[in-house]
Amino acid sequence: MWHNPGQAQQQRAATDRGFMQRNILVTSALPYANGPIHLGHLVEYIQTDIWVRFQKLRGNRCIYVCADDAHGTPIMLKARELGITPEELIERIGREHQDDFAAFGIGFDNYYTTHSQENRELSELIYERNREAGHIDSRTIKQAYDPDEGMFLPDRYIKGECPRCGAADQYGDSCEACGATYTPTDLINPVSVISGATPEERESLHYFFRLQDFETMLKDWARSGHVQPEVANKLEEWFQEGLREWDISRDAPYFGFRIPGTEDKYFYVWLDAPIGYMASFRNWCERHGEDFDAWWDADSDTELYHFIGKDIVYFHALFWPAMLHGAGFRKPTRICAHGFMTVDGAKMSKSRGTFIMAHTYRNHLNPEYLRYYMAAKLGSNVHDLDLNLDDFTQRVNSDLVGKLVNIASRSSGFITKRFDGRLAGELPAPEIYREFVARGEQIAEAYENREFSRAVREIMALADQANQYFDEEQPWVLARDESTLPQVQAICTQTLNLFRVLMVYLKPVVPGIAAGAEAFLNVDEQNWQSVQAPLLDHAINRFQPLATRVERAQVDAMIEESRETLAPKTDAPDTSGPLADDPIGDTVDIDTFARVDLRVARIREAARVDGADKLLRLSLDLGGETRTVFAGLRSAYAPEDLQGRLTVMVANLAPRKMRFGVSEGMVLAAGPGGDEIFILEPDSGARPGMRVK
Ligand code: 2FM
Ligand code: ZN
Repeated sequence: MWHNPGQAQQQRAATDRGFMQRNILVTSALPYANGPIHLGHLVEYIQTDIWVRFQKLRGNRCIYVCADDAHGTPIMLKARELGITPEELIERIGREHQDDFAAFGIGFDNYYTTHSQENRELSELIYERNREAGHIDSRTIKQAYDPDEGMFLPDRYIKGECPRCGAADQYGDSCEACGATYTPTDLINPVSVISGATPEERESLHYFFRLQDFETMLKDWARSGHVQPEVANKLEEWFQEGLREWDISRDAPYFGFRIPGTEDKYFYVWLDAPIGYMASFRNWCERHGEDFDAWWDADSDTELYHFIGKDIVYFHALFWPAMLHGAGFRKPTRICAHGFMTVDGAKMSKSRGTFIMAHTYRNHLNPEYLRYYMAAKLGSNVHDLDLNLDDFTQRVNSDLVGKLVNIASRSSGFITKRFDGRLAGELPAPEIYREFVARGEQIAEAYENREFSRAVREIMALADQANQYFDEEQPWVLARDESTLPQVQAICTQTLNLFRVLMVYLKPVVPGIAAGAEAFLNVDEQNWQSVQAPLLDHAINRFQPLATRVERAQVDAMIEESRETLAPKTDAPDTSGPLADDPIGDTVDIDTFARVDLRVARIREAARVDGADKLLRLSLDLGGETRTVFAGLRSAYAPEDLQGRLTVMVANLAPRKMRFGVSEGMVLAAGPGGDEIFILEPDSGARPGMRVK
């Protein structure tokens, strides 16, 4: 069902038109091989795939490669937790990823893994060339070490009490309660998340890439149109702060590639991940007899586009061009960064059921609909994209089903029943057809510039025009009279030709529906040029529904299934539910517990605290007494959402002096953090000051 035009066909189309065929290599960021694809990932793959399909449809030579990002500590530990080798894990996850991608119509020319021979060779080559050119330093650094596990610990694998506010269970790099940032050695009572042991500080030799050597080159590159304006601004900020060397090594045990000339040092996963783009392409070249060097030489005239999320701009717009330049390779033509996905205006959340996996979506809804909805909302900027579930249902039904497919369904019946499936020999109103064809250039320009929402808007405006044409001509009236039957055939021929043009324009977005339309119209694979000549005196097939309405119940069922994934479904250890993330702690005796004075309190006022991005200052009424409490609720609540509400507080917690003032108690809340924090609220009837027992 999913089809990429073959190369021969593309080349033919290109030569026929005598235009300059572009050679474009395109990538999407490589997903980590330790978890499933979710809708947040799909924003990027769908965006990239639409652009790639558009380029192919236009007759350009466009190669889309990707791979699983297979290295690093989390993958090593995940495999260990499952009792399998990292190789087995990445093989298994790789298969699942590819299955999901195929279902969403992501037409990679090559999907590979970063744990490959090609990637090892290229990583070593790029490293060696940079080293020979003097861009690699080495020196000894101090780092937290887990003596039980015999391994150095990344910051996220150490937890302890915040050195500033004392909050328990904080990660080694920042405090979720007060927003402080620090290094793991600052934590009070630190423990290794892996073994529970107290980390020690140990020395180790590390290797560094001297990013600062590339400052002039990077500034020139960043200022000459290779990135979006917002990204260029961010890069200027980084230039202002100064470019620093980058630690590219990790100690054994580590799942990755060993650094040449060392015994137990490995390339940090982020060094070999982007090189994985090249490696996947090299693998494709080997299988297709293509000259890899012609695409990667410093003076190559091919184009290189990287689609990425805005969170990994530093890697792609600084480290990556610098590494390539230092090794004598070409640099990217363009970095296309996009924003994150939200669902119904909020961050995707497991408890709300909006953290939706690709395979859960597939259980309930047609992937083409998500492609359409995302296209209808995607621009070339880095804004977040909101999947509004009501809007999704409504748009699919009104645009795809109600407008587009309807054009074919209402006009094809006459052709099939009255004219034996044959289109008329000429168009009654060729100027409309010509206008539709002419509008293709604007639509193409929107696609080229990744302004997909504009392309979709223009296509849907044409769909309105096609429906209006049919309505005004009223073929159902003319069909009542034998003498006007030829007009009926001509009107329906015209309408179906307009439909064909629209389907070609929308083909990059909904390739499955477009393939269905080609089968119905009984035509070969269409390209952008196919619409130059209308289909006349041509037999079509019987119409089959190309898209069906979405019911809100299907969407709700998908949300429910996503919510359910919180509960363990198998006897394998569950790592997603609240209890698994946060096991129940040691027991306390009843006397100890009784010393905690819990009270109902009313939140009189709530306000943001300047300089503390996690905190809200609460003024709490305890039924006669007012307390000020600084609570880490800001990521989950706007102050106005809390004002006037009842909650429960620890009233006899010793006052704590914080940077912003004294906190006189603590509000009780549940949840892992981020947008998933839920304050406790008593049942109705409770009053401020009441003791909670
Ligand atoms: O952020 C991520 O999910 C990384 N796995 C992306 C890597 S992209 C590229 F550099 F390989
Ligand atoms: Zn803190």
